[in-house]
Amino acid sequence: MAETFEPKNIIVTGGCGFIGSNFVHHVVREHPEVHVTVLDKLTYAGNPENIAGLPVDRVELVVGDICDAELLDRIVPGHDAIVHYAAESHNDNSIADPEPFVQTNVVGTFRLLEACRKYDVRYHHVSTDEVYGDLAIDDPARFTEETPYKPSSPYSSSKASSDMLVRAWTRTYGIRSTISNCSNNYGPYQHVEKFIPRQITNIIDGIRPKLYGDGKNVRDWIHTEDHSSAVWTILTKGRIGETYLIGADGEKDNITVLRAILKAMGKPEDDFDWVRDRPGHDRRYAIDSTKLRTELGWQPQHTDFESGLEATIAWYREHEDWWRPAKAATEAKYAKQGQ
Ligand SMILES: NC(=O)c1ccc[n+]([C@@H]2O[C@H](COP(=O)([O-])OP(=O)(O)OC[C@H]3O[C@@H](n4cnc5c(N)ncnc54)[C@H](O)[C@@H]3O)[C@@H](O)[C@H]2O)c1
Repeated sequence: MAETFEPKNIIVTGGCGFIGSNFVHHVVREHPEVHVTVLDKLTYAGNPENIAGLPVDRVELVVGDICDAELLDRIVPGHDAIVHYAAESHNDNSIADPEPFVQTNVVGTFRLLEACRKYDVRYHHVSTDEVYGDLAIDDPARFTEETPYKPSSPYSSSKASSDMLVRAWTRTYGIRSTISNCSNNYGPYQHVEKFIPRQITNIIDGIRPKLYGDGKNVRDWIHTEDHSSAVWTILTKGRIGETYLIGADGEKDNITVLRAILKAMGKPEDDFDWVRDRPGHDRRYAIDSTKLRTELGWQPQHTDFESGLEATIAWYREHEDWWRPAKAATEAKYAKQGQ
């Protein structure tokens, strides 16, 4: 299918975070005609090192808040699209203190939509499958674009709210938007607070990994590079006003993932400790991405989870300078929560 939209000058919000920075690398590598302005507040989760070394004539970093309407008035004109990744993204943090989640995820999205309305800029909204709540472990169903919203946590409810704003601004004001809801990502540059990097870096540090609850919670894993190619496909070929689910058929329960990490790192597969479960912990997520695959012709490329995991482990071993500064504070926070 021919590309219908050919952006040349895009804003990527949250481009110094995990998935946003992987997307910036993807665009620089795959789309040499595109200039990227990264708008990032550099919270604890944002690290300019994630995009350091990319050509300065291709990528510009603006440090600022997506909630700052005056800043948006200065930088949005002249761009032809905003790809919105910036968010407070960690469920556990949202339970401890939900306010920044409402501010950044809901108010921030509102500000971006208003800027798109004012300057007639196309908008792609990056969201999560967590807006759909969870499925029972033994339920054969998977989420589709038609699944009703049923978010469980402050994080997922703030993302669900932001999705609703996008739909309303599209319908009411004619914003040219698309939405994607993706499953759990893994890969390089993911903060050590998240499940896979936390386990890898604990093992590197000689600390026994910790597993929530009974370890049976199922997540649908996708390599972040596949998420990037899917977002680019939707931005350039997706139909305005449509939602596309992104997934790579990577359902695995947490104990299987942890055992795979232990095995790949040369440890006995039972060398971990159980910890108290997170309140409201969703049981199972599973994505049916048929619409994206059939309508837009997208296919994931990194579907061998074990080799993707090995490459990710190698990345964390080789980039200790990158994750080490955040490790002690992250573990101190978990220790306070008894996790
Ligand atoms: N991590 C996943 O598995 C996953 C899955 C599906 C969807 N998503 C979505 O993808 C997006 C990125 O997730 P991530 O895991 O890379 O998150 P992350 O926490 O690693 O990065 C978030 C980035 O946003 C920036 N940011 C936060 N508040 C900001 C603000 N007010 N203004 C400007 N920048 C701000 C941070 O500095 C950081 O660079 C989020 O919207 C998330 O909901 C994540």
